[in-house]
Amino acid sequence: MTDRKASLSIEGNEQPIELNVRSGTLGQDVIEIAPLLSNNYFTFDPGFATTAPCESEITYIDGANGVLLHRGYPIEQLAANSDYLETCYLLLNGELPDDKTKTEFENIIRMHTMVNRSLENFFSGFRHDAHPMAMLCGVVGAMSSFYHDSMDITDPTHRLITAHRLIAKMPTLAAMCHKHYVGQPYMYPDNSLSYAENFLHMMFGTPCEDKEINPVLAKAMDLIFLLHADHEQNASTSTVRLAGSSGANPFSCIAAGIAALWGPAHGGANQAVIEMLEQIGDEKNIDEYVKRAKDKDDPFRLMGFGHRVYKNFDPRAKVMKKTCDEVLSELGLEDDRLLKIAKRLEKIALEDDYFVEKKLYPNVDFYSGIIMKAIGIPTEMFTAIFATGRTVGWISHWNEMISNPYRIGRPRQLYKGHKQRDYPAKK
Ligand code: CMC
Repeated sequence: MTDRKASLSIEGNEQPIELNVRSGTLGQDVIEIAPLLSNNYFTFDPGFATTAPCESEITYIDGANGVLLHRGYPIEQLAANSDYLETCYLLLNGELPDDKTKTEFENIIRMHTMVNRSLENFFSGFRHDAHPMAMLCGVVGAMSSFYHDSMDITDPTHRLITAHRLIAKMPTLAAMCHKHYVGQPYMYPDNSLSYAENFLHMMFGTPCEDKEINPVLAKAMDLIFLLHADHEQNASTSTVRLAGSSGANPFSCIAAGIAALWGPAHGGANQAVIEMLEQIGDEKNIDEYVKRAKDKDDPFRLMGFGHRVYKNFDPRAKVMKKTCDEVLSELGLEDDRLLKIAKRLEKIALEDDYFVEKKLYPNVDFYSGIIMKAIGIPTEMFTAIFATGRTVGWISHWNEMISNPYRIGRPRQLYKGHKQRDYPAKK
């Protein structure tokens, strides 16, 4: 619905360009800029910081006030009352399930937890020390070659089956990445366990000895998946949408999302947090690193601090901080060297003028990294776990796009290269 008009006057042009201003249910209004094209203008917006490339009904973020809603429900309420699979259902379908539907959904996901054994051959091709994200990106892309029976993206049933397969198989694949890395046999899923328990079982169990699963840690794991489930049009989700806009199959789109997530400015930050704590090494070095983070000429940044959208606090970090304290106390790790550095760093950054003025608060990755480290998950697995939780968000956005009219994504540019010139004459 068009609410208001905007008028853009450009020096040298006789007529202003009329634009529509549209309102959503919440958040900033958007200016529809399509008429700029017929007037021979593009918009310039590096990093897409002011661009809304789509309409969406899935997730809403108010960065200034630290609000995150999934289908209207605040993340704090979902974290307190829901669980990961119920939140998956909500993101995919738009409403919370009733008890019967919830059980049915959990059973559907259980039915899909195993992966085709041929996928083990893909893993065998990776070096023993391949990064889990490299393997995950590869094997999720490879899944495109397994499900020819349900790859018609115009069929809503096919899209739903694919969504279920991806949600169910991601923990299995992520755990296989870990097992390959450490050289242990792959563990089959145990469908008597919950989603998070099953993941811990496949990560830490071996065919010789099935590790008992600590319920506090399983709950923390479920919360980590839940808090990462979706985050509207972030870099990886936008990548999934862009890849999907060409009509590419969903497994390859999710593989593209995994690639985009890997970077340290996005999902790779949870691994980077622990690496940074290791690099700092001792509480006595903190001041030096804080000084470096503030130095414009030094590329060092405090990993796990700051966010493109949250300029007040990250509501996921608030929830995660509480669980972080619970996990550390359950495991008796309050005195762990790295965790002590993390706590001091958090305190300094929350009080230091530089971080306060620039609104650089600890983000979700700061605390999730600490929790996963405490649980005993190796750092190189952290981003693969983020990817596992985020898969439902990616596939929900992909499904939303494909279910509605869409065009291939095709940004433009401000060209600053050479003007046309002639190829030099041959000597
Ligand atoms: N440490 C030190 N200074 C920082 C940091 C940091 N972590 N983050 C931003 N700044 C400074 C930056 O130097 C700049 O200063 P100035 O205005 O003087 O040039 C200012 O704050 C604004 O930074 P920006 O890079 O323009 O902000 P952005 O919105 O483009 O970047 C960010 C956001 C998350 C990439 C960035 O804060 C960062 O690199 N943080 C560390 C990595 C991290 O923790 N990433 C995880 C994000 S949460 C998980 C997710 O959603 O993926």
